Order: sequence, then structure tokens, then C-alpha cells
Amino acid sequence: MKKIGILTRDCAGINAAIRAVVRVACYNNIEVLGIQRGYEGLINGEIVSLKRFDVSGIINRGGTILKTVRSKKFLTQEGREKAVETIKKNKIEGLIVIGGNGSLKGAHLLANQYNIPVIGIPATIDNDINGVDLAIGSDTAVNVAVDALDKIRDTATSLERIFVVEVMGRNSGYIAMQVALAGGCEEVLVPEREFEIDKVLEEISAGYKIGKISWIIIVAEGKAKAQDIAQTIIENTGYETRVAVLGYIQRGGSPTALDRIMAARLGSFAVDVLRKGESDKCVCANENKLSTIPLEIAIQTKQIEIENYYRLIKILT
Ligand code: F6P
Repeated sequence: MKKIGILTRDCAGINAAIRAVVRVACYNNIEVLGIQRGYEGLINGEIVSLKRFDVSGIINRGGTILKTVRSKKFLTQEGREKAVETIKKNKIEGLIVIGGNGSLKGAHLLANQYNIPVIGIPATIDNDINGVDLAIGSDTAVNVAVDALDKIRDTATSLERIFVVEVMGRNSGYIAMQVALAGGCEEVLVPEREFEIDKVLEEISAGYKIGKISWIIIVAEGKAKAQDIAQTIIENTGYETRVAVLGYIQRGGSPTALDRIMAARLGSFAVDVLRKGESDKCVCANENKLSTIPLEIAIQTKQIEIENYYRLIKILT
């Protein structure tokens, strides 16, 4: 193998993964082409050469140096054919795709429908890649949110207030559950679980009667709007309630050591398996051992363990 391509989505740790791919490829005398702006850039031929020193000083930077956009064109056959043309024209012998579900679905299409050798590296704050224990970026997102939550708790406790904190996760309650447990929160609302607002209101009122002075409720953005939950609490209990929407601070920022280590190991392993001729696979480090799973499995909906986690959160409050 003489030349590979790399394209990415964005979250903390992706630059560290780009660095690992480029450096391991250089070590093996393989040239790397960076595809800018994701699948859109692949369609348009937006390509830069990535040499050893082009990835200096990025291990600690959030986002992606390659930039990325959602590509509507890639969802069409015409778009994908143009993407394949770019791959062929630039003599790219294998592609590494770093990202979440959408990116890995695209990777699977290229491998499966067009016979392009492709390896995926899981990277998403939602940690919702099926069959993968830990995706790059999710540890940073949880830590950023917990850090923010600790600061919010200072005001919640001092002013005896209720806070409803909205975290990211359109379809996934991963961040919300982790943050609720790590932050010692009283309640968590996630897309994967039904909740009864009446029960939440009853618990708040019962808590106040026995001297509980502050509450923090975590809401995943895909389940409800924090503002609506707060309004309902105010209208029904009269207690002072505030809202904090953490938003994109969770997706950016400097990656944690764990995310950098995952990025180094998975980036390096992805180059190795591509060189060995594997394709249509996603690399992972399940139970701390490097392995691959078919992309077809990785793009299925991941079932996360909710009930035991939820029970523990409630017992610990
Ligand atoms: O999948 C990652 C994620 O950040 C989700 O947590 C969030 O719901 C979604 O992406 C937001 O997508 P966009 O950046 O397109 O608004």
C-alpha cells in the first residue's frame, strides 16, 4: 500500500487520531492525503497532503484540522460516484474514516457498494457505535459536562435552587447518564427511557418537606427541552428553578488523556489492518484489546444499559 486517504467528523480527540494515522503511515512509507470537509470534500476533490510535520502540535486540539460538513450530495448515488472518482483519480488505495454513525454509514457504503478498502475509527461524543465500548471524544464530553455541573452545583446549593441542565444527545442518553452518575444528580431524563413528570414533581415536593434544599436534573437534548421541564416545575411547585444548556462546549475542547490514548491506539491499528487488506471494518479497543468489527454491525442502533444505571443514580441521591 502506497497511499491512503483520511476523512473525519469532529469531536475532541479526532486531531490526535489524524496525527496517529499520519505518523504510523509515514513510519510504513505510506503517503497520506487528508480529505477536507468530510464526504463533501471527497466529492469535490478537496484534498491536502499530510506529512509527518503537518500533524505537529495538534494532539491537544479539539475539532478537526481537516474541517467537516454534513454532505447531502453523498446521500445520492451520483454524489457517491463522484466521491469514488476522486478516490480513483488520486490513487487512494485505502480510506480511513473517523466519526460517528453517519460517517461510518458512509464508510460502509463505499466499501460495500464500490469495493473501496475502508476502515472506520469510532469517534463521537454520544458513544453510540454499536459493538464498541468507547468511542473517541465521549470521555472528553462527559468530563467537560461534569466540570460545568460541579460549578452549577455551587449556585444550586448556595441559593437552594433547582437546576435543569441540558446535555447533548439527540438520540443517545449516554452523556446524560454518565454525567448524572458522576455529578451526583437527583434525576436524569434520556431518550431511551420513559419518564413521568408527575413522579419527578412528587419527589421534589417530598424532598423539600424533609429538608432537601437543591436539585439537579439532567436532560438529554433529544428527550426534552430543559426550559420546558423547568417551567413545569415552577408552575407546579413554585420552587425557584433555573436552566443551563451546556451545548457544544461538550463536543469541543482539548481531549482528555483517555481520548488521546484511544486515538493513538485506534489510529495506529486502523493503518495496520488496512495494510493487511481488511476492509468494511471498524476498529475498537473493547475490554482494552484491539480488534475489528464489521461496519455493518457498528452502524446498527446501540442498546445502552439504562435501568441499572438509573437505579443506582436514584439510590445514591
Ligand atoms: O452525534 C453527536 C451530536 O453532537 C449529538 O450529541 C447532537 O445531538 C448532534 O450531534 C448535533 O448535531 P449537529 O452538530 O448537526 O447539530
